[in-house]
Amino acid sequence: MTPPAAAPEGTDGGQPDDASPGAAGEAHLAAEAGYLPPTVSQETSLGRRVFAYGRGATLVDVDGREYVDLVAGTMTQSLGHSHPEVVRAVTAQAARLVNVHDNPTPARLAAARALARMLPEHLGALGFLTTGAEAVEAALRAAHAAAAPGRTRIAALRRGFHGKTRGARAPVQWDVGTEPPAPALLGYPAYCYRCPFDASYPSCDLLCARLTVRQAVARPDVAALLAEPVQGAAGVIVPPPGYWEVVGRACAEHGVLLIADEVLTGGGRTGRFLAAEHYGLSPDLVTLAKGVGSGHPVAVLAGRHRVLDERTWRAAGGLGSTYGGHAVGLAAAASTLTVLRRDDLLTRVTELGAVLAAALGELADHPAVGEVRGLGLLWGVELVADRATRAPDPAAADRVYRRALDLGVRVMPGGQTLRLAPPFVIEPDELTDAIRRLGRAIDDVHQGRA
Ligand SMILES: Cc1ncc(COP(=O)(O)O)c(C=O)c1O
Repeated sequence: MTPPAAAPEGTDGGQPDDASPGAAGEAHLAAEAGYLPPTVSQETSLGRRVFAYGRGATLVDVDGREYVDLVAGTMTQSLGHSHPEVVRAVTAQAARLVNVHDNPTPARLAAARALARMLPEHLGALGFLTTGAEAVEAALRAAHAAAAPGRTRIAALRRGFHGKTRGARAPVQWDVGTEPPAPALLGYPAYCYRCPFDASYPSCDLLCARLTVRQAVARPDVAALLAEPVQGAAGVIVPPPGYWEVVGRACAEHGVLLIADEVLTGGGRTGRFLAAEHYGLSPDLVTLAKGVGSGHPVAVLAGRHRVLDERTWRAAGGLGSTYGGHAVGLAAAASTLTVLRRDDLLTRVTELGAVLAAALGELADHPAVGEVRGLGLLWGVELVADRATRAPDPAAADRVYRRALDLGVRVMPGGQTLRLAPPFVIEPDELTDAIRRLGRAIDDVHQGRA
């Protein structure tokens, strides 16, 4: 199948209203199942779509059917699928030089300069890696190496997600069933819709933040707090004003390093380059990945010079890895960040975020919807079986995910909250039309039509 030269026009025309992939998709899935069980990923087993190419905000499957991609790949293609400038940069770099381990290269300097223009000034020390989990692992190594003697533990927040490697899972005590639970210190995220204390903001006086400080931060044995400023995989948990002020201040007062895991939020997804900036938060270390490389495997660890200094890296065994200096990924990062800045896409994220908020607001009163919440172009739609009891309904969310695909819209499944993270280049009317179709999918499932 030859992809078109430009983004395919229109998204409604010819979209079949049924729940199965087309003939080419079925044949592909049957062939692939011989090698990979569908359970390799939730999307593979639930969605059963085989995507052939993407342009801008549109994905096309092997049967030629179009989908508005409200997830930008995997929250990665902020500039849209196959942005021409990134394609040019990557192609040129691949022809020139691909990988010489962690030696300096022009691509690495270009990526570092492009990042430095976007990051807060205090995060001047950088390291490049390939995946979010790898960056988190490097952050943990650095934090342990930089911490004062006796500070050996890593605190985190309940429901946090930091990747699937063992070190990234340990702080949140995510056991895959084969390991004893890691000793961890867990604070409370500000998940107001399901407040574990049955309190409400602001009369709660930020009990979750205060308990996080008391139980996980104000301790002499903690090296760092690893946390997402806005939790993504947990279902887009956006803390109210004050939460991070309390927790961030406590980290500084108690000598605990703050590692902001911005693998999902970093790169402008929330309307600021870092979600931390919404809260006036000054993390000591930041991890980035999804938002910086247009879908190429490049990740970043950024930090204060006094934390990521020579001594730290010597103690932590250095930063290099086989692909950490991958020049093609770095070229993707340099060109992505250059376009982001030149085209003032952070402003566009804020403007489109308002469009998305208004469109999702129309769904908020649906009997199957418990809450819609988000920031910039990162939103969650939490589905419930009963609005009064707030009983979560992950099965309905899975069905809505599938029904939305049938209607030509791709969202991100996972628990009871469907997540939306459209590319920054989507057109406003395309966005509102896709949300209208998502609303239809929710209603179809609720009414038993799907
Ligand atoms: C906040 C956060 N940290 C870390 C990761 C892990 O990134 P990767 O899948 O690239 O290892 C993710 C992935 O979704 C994430 O959302």
